[in-house]
Amino acid sequence: MENILEKMNRLRDEARLGGGVRRIEAQHARGKLTARERIEVLVDPGTFEELDMFVAHRCIDFGMADKKISGDGVVTGHGLIFGRQVFVFSQDFTVFGGTLSETNAMKICKIMDMAMKMGVPVIGINDSGGARIQEGVASLAGYAEVFQRNVLASGVVPQISAILGPCAGGAVYSPAMTDFIMMVQGNSYMFVTGPEVVKTVTHEEVTFEDLGGANTHFTRSGVADFAFEHEMALLRQLRRLLTFLPANNREKAPVISTGDEPEREEPSLDFLIPDVANRPYDMHELIKKVVDNGDFMEVRAGYAKNIIVGFGRMDGRSVGVVANQPMVLAGCLDINSSVKAARFVRFCDCFNIPILTFVDVPGFLPGVQQEMGGIIRHGAKLLYAYAEATVPKVTLITRKAYGGAYDVMSSKHLRGDFNFAWPNAEIAVMGAKGAAEIIFRSEIGKADDSAKVLAEKADEYTRSFANPFVAAEKGFIDDIIMPRNTRKSIIRALRFLDNKKLENPWRKHGNIPL
Ligand code: HXC
Repeated sequence: MENILEKMNRLRDEARLGGGVRRIEAQHARGKLTARERIEVLVDPGTFEELDMFVAHRCIDFGMADKKISGDGVVTGHGLIFGRQVFVFSQDFTVFGGTLSETNAMKICKIMDMAMKMGVPVIGINDSGGARIQEGVASLAGYAEVFQRNVLASGVVPQISAILGPCAGGAVYSPAMTDFIMMVQGNSYMFVTGPEVVKTVTHEEVTFEDLGGANTHFTRSGVADFAFEHEMALLRQLRRLLTFLPANNREKAPVISTGDEPEREEPSLDFLIPDVANRPYDMHELIKKVVDNGDFMEVRAGYAKNIIVGFGRMDGRSVGVVANQPMVLAGCLDINSSVKAARFVRFCDCFNIPILTFVDVPGFLPGVQQEMGGIIRHGAKLLYAYAEATVPKVTLITRKAYGGAYDVMSSKHLRGDFNFAWPNAEIAVMGAKGAAEIIFRSEIGKADDSAKVLAEKADEYTRSFANPFVAAEKGFIDDIIMPRNTRKSIIRALRFLDNKKLENPWRKHGNIPL
């Protein structure tokens, strides 16, 4: 018996060493933690239970029969984060470069299947050379098995990808189908074809970092939802992100006692909107003053900054915030911001997270580039996402809500539950000057002093429409509230909506304009 125990301990110790001391040191020398160290940082201390530690590959080609390492390049199992269950897989770069083999894929698929059955989030830590070349199509098959499960789990349990090393070729498509991608500066990259292939095919010279590093994906491609300076920060923020999310699509996010007074007034908000209508202000200020303790976890903060999306809490309950940002492109909706917000709205809707929308939008961004780039198709994504969403929707118009963008931004007409406006809100088809130029064109043209007539007509239009009362008269705005009372009004609305029930008609799935 003792022999068996000794053997078990020896095998466990060997498995824990992965690719060996030399490769672990090389990993550390690059500023990277090992697969197991990452898990230790991620989950609550002492809660990780490893599965399939003794799994080995079955490949016999290219001398692989003699090279078997227990665990086969990926550590899988379950643990707790702030006391809540998660499944984790963590690719071990010290073992065959963390590459995906047939058996290694089976390990990942096993925990994904369990996660779906049990309604538990899946966290994938990626650090891999991709398909294990010695295994050929068996490895490709393994990827496809993972992809299939990513899709089946989508909208059932949250899936979060941490990219802490290479992630290249088709391998990028597993993280791409998860809900959030987190990257780290300097040590992680994602691309479909690497710099060498790019050079051969298109003659472009580009570094790994520029092609697929954290900055590129965080600020330019929109692939990464978060970018951090180092792994520890990433893993800590991954823990934080989970606190805003439910474990699955049948549950609500946990209610966390934040100690922030729900009826708290914020007098400074009365002065947030500048006197001059075209002067920007920072929408972050409103968000931070309204959510509990100013705790706002912004998603995709570096990309399409004309819209802000992220998670906060109102009286302890998670909300997904979507807000136009007047500081960037005057808060116009364009292709990138529409897609960014649409994906976020759909995430919230999948996982029962109420959506809080702050509107200050002068319309869709005009321009040849936007039209040719398909703003019609992409703008429709956000419209579709809001219209489809059945979670509680609370909307506040702080200043402008013009044109189609008024409709899109969680308006009453798209089943907004509580739609508020501040007293100086302007809800109209377009800005006063543009409107006057169109409807009084001939009058203005004939006038001796056309500039004066234009100003008068614009003024008239402003008096008639650049206020929230016309919309309120029609019931499109439920109430006009003082800015200082914003938090109180929203929390009361959200409490009321806690038991909201709304279902869309049965269908296999809708046909969102992709
Ligand atoms: C098998 C691999 C491997 C691979 C790396 N290794 N990639 N083994 N299959 N794809 C092994 C190396 O032999 C080495 O083993 C160890 O992992 C570490 O690799 P190094 O090259 O020493 O590390 P580094 O210099 O850091 O370079 C890392 C790397 C590079 C950039 C990832 O290894 C690389 O370019 N690998 C090939 C990547 C690739 O082309 N993969 C296929 C992509 S296509 P030892 O024993 O020396 O430690 C793909 C398709 C997926 O993935 C399709 C899904 C549909």
